[in-house]
Amino acid sequence: MLKILVCVSGGGTNLQAIIDGIAGGTITNTEIMAVISNNPGAFALERAKKAGIEGICISPKDFSDRAAFNEAFLKKVDELAPDLIVLAGFLVNIPKEMVEHYPNRIINIHPSLIPSFCGTGYYGLKVHEAALARGVKVSGATVHFVDAGTDTGPIIMQKAVEVMPGDTPKELQKRIMEQAEWVILPAAIDAIANGRL
Ligand code: GRF
Repeated sequence: MLKILVCVSGGGTNLQAIIDGIAGGTITNTEIMAVISNNPGAFALERAKKAGIEGICISPKDFSDRAAFNEAFLKKVDELAPDLIVLAGFLVNIPKEMVEHYPNRIINIHPSLIPSFCGTGYYGLKVHEAALARGVKVSGATVHFVDAGTDTGPIIMQKAVEVMPGDTPKELQKRIMEQAEWVILPAAIDAIANGRL
């Protein structure tokens, strides 16, 4: 049984896709042991509660500096001792010590076809604004392993999504979430849980 820790910051629709995938059987051999959010108001924590999953809030705002937060975050994660850490819209930089503790055991979902529109400053709607500004006809989502960089680790899965004429950033974001993110993140977890990766 793959024990996964899901880290969130916002609405939690990717967390919901994982919860639904496990309930529906498209993700097997997997258990969500806990959800960690840096944002106490994240609706993702409501989703966890409704699913009977432990929700933990560790916010950088509660610590004197980033080093103190990083230490507390890593201590909590090590206590949980997950097999896999899933970053599902987690807007906090992962401490390098955590990457070292969990080599190739942290995955992230990014809402573009990496290496396009990724790296520092590319998160949330900003990713889609940049794709539309560039005029790409195809965008999509990427699941990748997390390394010491930002969106730079080995790519696991990608799924392309058509950009429609007149798309707004929000419309493109919604289509990429529905058609790509909520498909490849559960699929990547199932592949890892069943030794196919
Ligand atoms: C998603 O678009 C994801 O790709 C990005 O942040 C957003 C999180 O959405 N990293 P949600 O919290 O899973 O709804």
